[in-house]
Amino acid sequence: MANISIRNVSKSYGALNVLRPFSLEIEDGEFVVLVGPSGCGKSTMLKILAGLEPASEGQIFIGEREVTDLSPGDRDIAMVFQNYALYPHLTVRQNIGFGLKMRGTDKAELDRRVDDAARILEVTPYLDRKPKDLSGGQRQRVALGRAIVRQPQAFLMDEPLSNLDAKLRVHMRAEIGALHKRIGVTTVYVTHDQVEAMTMADRVVIMQGGIIQQIAAPDELFNNPANLFVAGFIGSPGMNFLNADLTAGRLTAFGQQMELTRAANHHGPVIVGVRPEHLTLNDAPVTFGVRPTLVESLGSEKYVYFDTEGARIADGEDGKTKGLIARVSHSGPLPRQEELRLGFDPAHLYLFDARTGARL
Ligand SMILES: Nc1ncnc2c1ncn2[C@@H]1O[C@H](COP(=O)(O)OP(=O)(O)OP(=O)(O)O)[C@@H](O)[C@H]1O
Ligand SMILES: [Mg+2]
Repeated sequence: MANISIRNVSKSYGALNVLRPFSLEIEDGEFVVLVGPSGCGKSTMLKILAGLEPASEGQIFIGEREVTDLSPGDRDIAMVFQNYALYPHLTVRQNIGFGLKMRGTDKAELDRRVDDAARILEVTPYLDRKPKDLSGGQRQRVALGRAIVRQPQAFLMDEPLSNLDAKLRVHMRAEIGALHKRIGVTTVYVTHDQVEAMTMADRVVIMQGGIIQQIAAPDELFNNPANLFVAGFIGSPGMNFLNADLTAGRLTAFGQQMELTRAANHHGPVIVGVRPEHLTLNDAPVTFGVRPTLVESLGSEKYVYFDTEGARIADGEDGKTKGLIARVSHSGPLPRQEELRLGFDPAHLYLFDARTGARL
């Protein structure tokens, strides 16, 4: 096991800048998740860590050792990718032991390590089966087995669960978490799924366009997003945004005026963020009327969709107004009236600079 130090690593393909200078210190035994939208450079970073792609600039250390120019085989890491490609003609035992066998590990040692890995991953009953006779989850465990028998300094995983159906993904997510607790190997895990990132990580690295937006523990990211991008990326349903005006601590939003003690020096347009769960049907310091466009019932809670002045146009996607969502605790049907009163506590509002997206 080892810590990993990524120092000012950048990557360009010709004129295309895929990673801006990227620095990250990963502690020994830590589970770090790189998350971000498609194309933001997650896999590129992982490939550079693995030695499958050269960095354009910068250095990588695993433990005390600089590995920047070492080949993948000399880095003492194990990788698990989305397409885990087991050898179809080999048994589970042979698949798990394949890498060790190639390295000339002696038979007794090889058997012992494969048996250990199989026990940890609970695939012992299937050791003599071929991959085609396994379920998707069992195959994924065999792929993990191939990584853990090597007893590497670190695991690198690139969307290892994305081929599994939703239910199995949730199950394997918990299994990988439990595995990490048991063997404690430093892990860098890539996903575009914010829920996976939030549930698995000790720390999450949020990336956009090859740039780190924030590095923080899951709760910290959720409660204290550094900017508009992070605020919108983390949370489901996502944070509501609306254009508003803030002048000398006086905010106008949802058709209401309120005094804020924060950002007293700001004058002009801001983007206000509020999480759906912070909008309530109960009494609140600020309330406003809405005409719901849709109400979805999830049993003990409801999603109330509505539009309001200033509701922010979704960036890019279909260019349509993204309706706002209130996630309210309420069992039974909502009163059959055209207008509902929603409320919030201004302390729960997030404020962002309308120009830079930085948190105010
Ligand atoms: N060999 C290559 N040559 C040129 N451009 C590349 C190459 N590999 C990746 N890219 C580009 O680099 C950017 C980052 O790619 P990368 O695979 O790291 O994204 P990602 O964050 O893993 O996305 P996804 O979630 O879709 O897997 C993309 O714009 C991609 O098109
Ligand atoms: Mg990728």
